[in-house]
Amino acid sequence: MNVQIEQPRRGPSLILLHSIPMFAGVPDSQLEQIAKVAFHRRVARQTVIVRAGDSTDSLYVLISGSAKVLNSDDEGREVILTLLGPGEFFGEMGLIDGSPRSADVMATETCELLVITKNDFKRCLTENFDLCLNIMKSLVQRLREADRNIESLALMDVYGRVAKLLLDFSENERGARVIKRRLTKQDIAKMIGASREMVSRVMKDLENRGYFKVEDGRIVILEKRIPTAPGGQFPASAAATEAS
Ligand code: CMP
Repeated sequence: MNVQIEQPRRGPSLILLHSIPMFAGVPDSQLEQIAKVAFHRRVARQTVIVRAGDSTDSLYVLISGSAKVLNSDDEGREVILTLLGPGEFFGEMGLIDGSPRSADVMATETCELLVITKNDFKRCLTENFDLCLNIMKSLVQRLREADRNIESLALMDVYGRVAKLLLDFSENERGARVIKRRLTKQDIAKMIGASREMVSRVMKDLENRGYFKVEDGRIVILEKRIPTAPGGQFPASAAATEAS
């Protein structure tokens, strides 16, 4: 489904641009140039904003809402590479190396986006070192995350991967680790390369052992460190659950 529920309108405010990490340190004179060329776009949930293989035309900044970056095979099986939230950008890879889009980016709820076209983005980059640096930092961060994911896929069992993902997605809230964003078992399964049924079993086991509780639909982690077990192996009871 590809539904755009509002026509593009021009002109983000400087206040909005200041709140976006990608523009941190960029002087007002440059932000004013960006404000002139960027435009807002609102998309409905499940809109595919960027499609893998398409030629690249724009960079997107997520102002509100959330999106997932995913790849799928011919049989429709999906792997979720990451989830994106407010303040994060996407679509830079194709703009930087000129290759087709590397993945689909789909809105998981209604999204307000800021769109900058390829030529405008390249001009902004050549004129602003802080912007280049911010983008490089984000790319490095994404590479680190990808490295950690490869490591957990290679070295951890499903139990460890679920535990790691819950910790990675948890945020500090008044001293407690809470997962604020909506995270379905299906999404978790697609992020860690396991079946939804397996993820359900492991999560039930973790919950029964008191490592987290669900409060108002949100996961609250009760232990500072959910044990992924030495070497990332299944603890005995989870292994038994898997075998059953
Ligand atoms: P692009 O290749 O132009 O289009 C798809 C976008 O998804 C890509 O740019 C990135 O912005 C984003 N993307 C692809 N892989 C990842 C990843 N591993 N982590 C975060 N974002 C990604």
